[in-house]
Amino acid sequence: MTDSQAESTDLITVYINNKGYRVPEDVTIMQAYEYAGYQFTRGCGCRGGVCGACSVVYRIPGNEKIETGLACQTLVQPEMCLTQIPFFPENKATYDIDQLEPTTEQILELYPELSKCMGCNTCTKSCPMDIDVMECVSEILRGNIEKVADRSISCIMCKLCASRCPAGLTPDYYFLLCRRLYGRHIMKPLVNVPRRISEIESGEYEAELDRLMTLDPEDLRQIYRETQLDKQEYDGTHKDQKEMWNENH
Ligand code: FES
Repeated sequence: MTDSQAESTDLITVYINNKGYRVPEDVTIMQAYEYAGYQFTRGCGCRGGVCGACSVVYRIPGNEKIETGLACQTLVQPEMCLTQIPFFPENKATYDIDQLEPTTEQILELYPELSKCMGCNTCTKSCPMDIDVMECVSEILRGNIEKVADRSISCIMCKLCASRCPAGLTPDYYFLLCRRLYGRHIMKPLVNVPRRISEIESGEYEAELDRLMTLDPEDLRQIYRETQLDKQEYDGTHKDQKEMWNENH
């Protein structure tokens, strides 16, 4: 059974681009599109809520609000009237990250409209990743670039916040800039990565890799099960990545 086929036989009516279709009641909007005969040549990528390609807006009868979501993650509802947003024009600055300062002033120079946030919070309400978008915009103005980089890490750049902002802000690009500034200018250099790269480049693991290549899959699985990480997880002593990172810095 493919994505576009339904397990349920109960059909409901939805309106895609204002045209009515009978589709199974338990499918996602993306599956409903395909059930109705549409083929995606854009507006579809991962089908798993990660790539941000499938933004949709819709209305439910009786609710005056425009709702937003990801077509691959949002289930259809009876009488839903919907359309996809295949592209949304945004103000996108170009820059050389090496030449930038990690400051609010620098970000405002590239995106001056940022200070025009009206505080309506529509951006946060439209975010399918539950990012507190308006709060992150405020944090940029307060100079907390590291906090924004951390809190916006799950942004998939679906453009829904930008499409709903009455002030024309493009938060996804501000957050991307913050994460770049953080990675390039604020975060301390990692200790372990360069060391491991130089070990690999010096050929330290060649013999072991050659040996692993000769093993059958079950032997490889057994080795994996016996790794220290596995044992730590089994013992409940596994450290999360952030904890390990903090210890290394
Ligand atoms: S197709 Fe990638 S988020 Fe929906």
